[in-house]
Amino acid sequence: MDFSTLSKERRSIRNYLDKKVDRELIDKCLDVALLAPSARNSQPWKFIVIDEEQVLSKIKECTSDDDYHLNLFTRNAPAMVAVVNEGLNYMPTNRGKMKGDDYSKSDVGAAIAMFCLKAAELSLGTCIIGSFDAKSVKELLGIPENKGLDLMITIGYPADDKIATKVCKQRENSVSYNKY
Ligand SMILES: Cc1cc2nc3c(=O)[nH]c(=O)nc-3n(C[C@H](O)[C@H](O)[C@H](O)COP(=O)(O)O)c2cc1C
Repeated sequence: MDFSTLSKERRSIRNYLDKKVDRELIDKCLDVALLAPSARNSQPWKFIVIDEEQVLSKIKECTSDDDYHLNLFTRNAPAMVAVVNEGLNYMPTNRGKMKGDDYSKSDVGAAIAMFCLKAAELSLGTCIIGSFDAKSVKELLGIPENKGLDLMITIGYPADDKIATKVCKQRENSVSYNKY
């Protein structure tokens, strides 16, 4: 699939087959995500794959309980990925040159986008989720308190052949040349 087609085909998938995803495939998505651009090549991410039923079921409670009913669908995901934001952690080679601006949230977003695109290429469905009980997920996974956890990803085999057509904003609202 060429890249433009892949970009069109990638959609958020919230309904999954009851089928495990091989770690080998998830690793392929991670291989691509780890190549994402980041400010000063800081790579401020850590991906924690959750695919063991015991851990997964506890995590799903944090993503799908009453307060997070928007994400009830996470209950049928065969695997999830917690994307830790390591914050400002520039490589030693870059330390001297840094202004100190924290671009880590953007960096993590870029890596997640690449992860999801690679998954789509492998016929896997993903959905990024931002609404969940991050404090509890951090506790369960042993993520240090001072690290960020804004986003998780569900991943699995799509259960539906078709999903609703994507509604995009009018192009002129999102793009201009040489002025706002
Ligand atoms: C930062 C971020 C947070 C998101 N959080 C959620 C979420 O909590 N629950 C959910 O169902 N979808 C979530 N999404 C998915 C968006 O709803 C989805 O990307 C958007 O509607 C566009 O649809 P598409 O991904 O199929 O193109 C999130 C996406 C992003 C980028």
